Amino acid sequence: MTAPRTPILAGNWKMNHGPSQAARFFADFLPLVQPADDRSVVFFPPAVSFAAAREAVQGRPDVRLGVQNVHWEEGGAFTGELSVAMAADAGAELVLVGHSERRHVFGETVDETVRKVGAVLRGGLVPVLCVGETIEERRADRAEAVVVEQLRPVLASISAEQLPTLVIAYEPVWAIGTGVTATPADAAAMHAAVRRTLAEVYGAQAAEGVPVLYGGSVKPDNAAELMSQPGVDGVLVGGASLDPAGFAAIVAAAG
Ligand code: 13P
Repeated sequence: MTAPRTPILAGNWKMNHGPSQAARFFADFLPLVQPADDRSVVFFPPAVSFAAAREAVQGRPDVRLGVQNVHWEEGGAFTGELSVAMAADAGAELVLVGHSERRHVFGETVDETVRKVGAVLRGGLVPVLCVGETIEERRADRAEAVVVEQLRPVLASISAEQLPTLVIAYEPVWAIGTGVTATPADAAAMHAAVRRTLAEVYGAQAAEGVPVLYGGSVKPDNAAELMSQPGVDGVLVGGASLDPAGFAAIVAAAG
């Protein structure tokens, strides 16, 4: 028997909340959420707000921090980029890789996600690999194929020993920031497809150990139903993670 996967409630602040707002957010949020060891709460603040966030969550080991993006190189002339070692030094434990905005707004390729996941694992941090289809791909009945195409090259590039460190987030592009959420049944079907792909590469037992989060217009009023679906191990929240009371309600929805 594999140990049950612990729910992960993650907030991706994207390009929101500078250092002062980050400090205010945690001053309001932390008293609303009691420490608990049966779930993880994670924030991905903008890099310039990372130090303020880290200071604010000191003494709260139940709250972990990550960065929204890294470069795969270890250092050098890469203006605007962050290395994994720098993120780790700042206190990051996790890194988002392949978020749909990186792929669709900034043109990040599957090959780049492969390099980034490799760099994150080599640097001892946890990659949160985001995958998801556009509305056109879903309408063309290619949702599952697209997600598998995003996943497979990454899975092929990591070892069985590294797999337990990986977290996957299924985020349908059409549900991000739109207020339209995948139906619980659609989310469950796509999470099953992700786990099937993991099992095809690494076997069923190893696949069971990988947390798969859902993201895309998660709100306090739909979080519990989404998280009750089989194979949905938590949520990656954008807009609703900016509001302390709203995100505290989403954390509470994990039970
Ligand atoms: P929204 O929750 O704003 O739809 O964003 C989801 C997301 O992209 C999280 O990474």
